[in-house]
Amino acid sequence: MMIPPLTTPLPLLPLLLLLTTTATAFEYHTFDGPDFPSCHNVSRVHNATSVADMAAVVKSALHQEPNLRVRAAGKGHMWYDTQCSDEPTIIIRTENVAAISELDFSPKMEEDSEGGSVWVEAGVTFFQLAEYLHARGASVGYTLTNWNISFGGSVAMGAHRSSIREESMVAAGVLAMDIIDGRGEVRRVVRDERDDEWLAASTSLGLLGIIARVQLRVYGDTKVYAEQVTLDEKDVLDGDIYGMIAPYATANLWWWPYKRKFHHRYYDTVPTNSTPQEGFQNTFSVTKLEAIAARTLLDSGKYLPTSNMLAEEIFLGLWSKPNFREKTTNEEIGDWPVHGWNYDVLIGGLYPDQKAEWEYGLAAYTLELAFPVTLANKMMKRVRHLFDDELKKGIVMTSTYRSGINIKFGKPYFDFLGQVTYNTTDGADWSKGAIMFDFPSYRPTIGDHKRFNEQFYHKVANTLIDEFPCRPHWTKNTREVFARSAKNLDPNYLRRFKAVRERFDPQGIYRNVVGEILGFY
Ligand SMILES: Cc1cc2nc3c(=O)[nH]c(=O)nc-3n(C[C@H](O)[C@H](O)[C@H](O)COP(=O)(O)OP(=O)(O)OC[C@H]3O[C@@H](n4cnc5c(N)ncnc54)[C@H](O)[C@@H]3O)c2cc1C
Ligand SMILES: *[C@@H]1O[C@H](CO)[C@@H](O)[C@H](O)[C@H]1NC(C)=O
Ligand SMILES: *[C@@H]1O[C@H](CO)[C@@H](O)[C@H](O)[C@H]1NC(C)=O
Ligand SMILES: *[C@@H]1O[C@H](CO)[C@@H](O)[C@H](O)[C@H]1NC(C)=O
Ligand SMILES: *[C@@H]1O[C@H](CO)[C@@H](O)[C@H](O)[C@H]1NC(C)=O
Repeated sequence: MMIPPLTTPLPLLPLLLLLTTTATAFEYHTFDGPDFPSCHNVSRVHNATSVADMAAVVKSALHQEPNLRVRAAGKGHMWYDTQCSDEPTIIIRTENVAAISELDFSPKMEEDSEGGSVWVEAGVTFFQLAEYLHARGASVGYTLTNWNISFGGSVAMGAHRSSIREESMVAAGVLAMDIIDGRGEVRRVVRDERDDEWLAASTSLGLLGIIARVQLRVYGDTKVYAEQVTLDEKDVLDGDIYGMIAPYATANLWWWPYKRKFHHRYYDTVPTNSTPQEGFQNTFSVTKLEAIAARTLLDSGKYLPTSNMLAEEIFLGLWSKPNFREKTTNEEIGDWPVHGWNYDVLIGGLYPDQKAEWEYGLAAYTLELAFPVTLANKMMKRVRHLFDDELKKGIVMTSTYRSGINIKFGKPYFDFLGQVTYNTTDGADWSKGAIMFDFPSYRPTIGDHKRFNEQFYHKVANTLIDEFPCRPHWTKNTREVFARSAKNLDPNYLRRFKAVRERFDPQGIYRNVVGEILGFY
């Protein structure tokens, strides 16, 4: 390598700086690791240490590196290259900005009242807060997601649990938030449905700025049960799907399209003194042996549909049993229903002697779209039809994910970009809530990494987007899906969002590809 001589003429210096920046740009990746870029053009990663530190980095970037964009990063629990724009970007990691403070809660507060509140910083994860609250007799209720996900990341991207009866958007539990705007100033936005700033901040895609702190509602800790039954496919496709979900605190369906079965999982509270059991759920961890077996079988399924058929058969069998252990003894729990503390049963985490499946190289593609729940039967029958069209050609398609196709639900919640908003110009009835079709599929570790009959997955996505009012989950879809589904979003809400975006971030330093696709720049 040539070292530039000290006598480099001055006019060349900026060019050299530019070259250095470009030459060192690298990829940032998702939780799945280095083969899974979330950003393509990262200049540097800053491990933030505090809210003030994040604001200082934004300010210094504005003054010294005005050509760089900035994006926050939580735990990388997203699927595709949609975190950043393709322009050079500084990543600000929030992991170490994780204080929990100002808990205002007493166990005497009724479970069903407005509850108490707590402030968490951007990087606090669900399990960190759950542990903190459980020790103090509190919980966040049902506005939660998977364990190792940050509050900043989940609020930004409109993450949610599955419930029609209870508020289930994480943002629905937020009372106020502090956002570091495009000038590096901290702005507080307080819940107020008449305020466009709140309606934009509620699901902001990180485009207003870095969510630095959020104030959350908290409730009394409760014990809950988890129950699961197996149903024939026709009983769901022709059944009262709304009626299967709405009565419970949280409920969902898992679809096994090859076996033509569903699992119906539902949860609700029980009196705390009614059970000594302390069930702990595990959705994502496996032993090394299981991981190797699954990987071998599913990789062969890239070419051999019989392997996928066998895999679905095995997964359905395993998923019929409780994926829970007794927390106090670490013993497997054999029978439904399972009881335990709110967070342990609703989410849980990893078993102490296992690792998350992705740490063994098991990765997935996914697609998630939300539809008005009033169209649940019609949408699911359309998907069935697409599976049957393949069968007619002699091609058997299956679910290649350990928990099948995940069918979730959402209570209506009003904001501009959320998956479960309503009063939209599409004329669809979103007022009863939404059904989400979340279709994860195994990503082969071999060859070109394409799936068996790859085009089927694109056909499912395109058909649903073109034939139904539907909205994408903001971290579980490809750029192509965002581009194709943008036509289904309410243009008035997009316009109002954009106006707030321009006030918060006039220079567009937080810009990313999703915002570009939605026409915000
Ligand atoms: C195994 C698994 C299970 C999941 N379960 C659910 C689920 O049950 N329900 C659901 O809805 N989703 C679920 N998700 C998706 C997940 O909730 C979202 O992808 C979430 O955004 C990830 O948060 P994170 O902390 O990992 O952020 P990252 O993945 O690091 O970032 C995601 C996006 O948010 C932005 N961002 C992150 N932090 C901030 C911040 N402080 N301010 C502004 N923008 C920010 C990033 O720039 C990026 O665009 C799951 C994902 C995985 C991998
Ligand atoms: C930031 O922290 C992560 C995790 O601790 C570490 O892997 C990474 O090297 C750190 N990056 C920088 C730039 O310090
Ligand atoms: C959470 O995610 C981080 C990556 O950001 C990882 O290092 C850590 O091991 C994960 N924790 C658990 C409990 O999975
Ligand atoms: C990064 O951004 C620069 C400047 O816009 C561009 O020339 C380059 O092609 C980008 N690199 C990637 C990998 O996108
Ligand atoms: C939705 O529309 C109805 C009927 O026009 C109206 O009464 C209601 O206030 C609207 N809700 C929101 C949150 O905009």
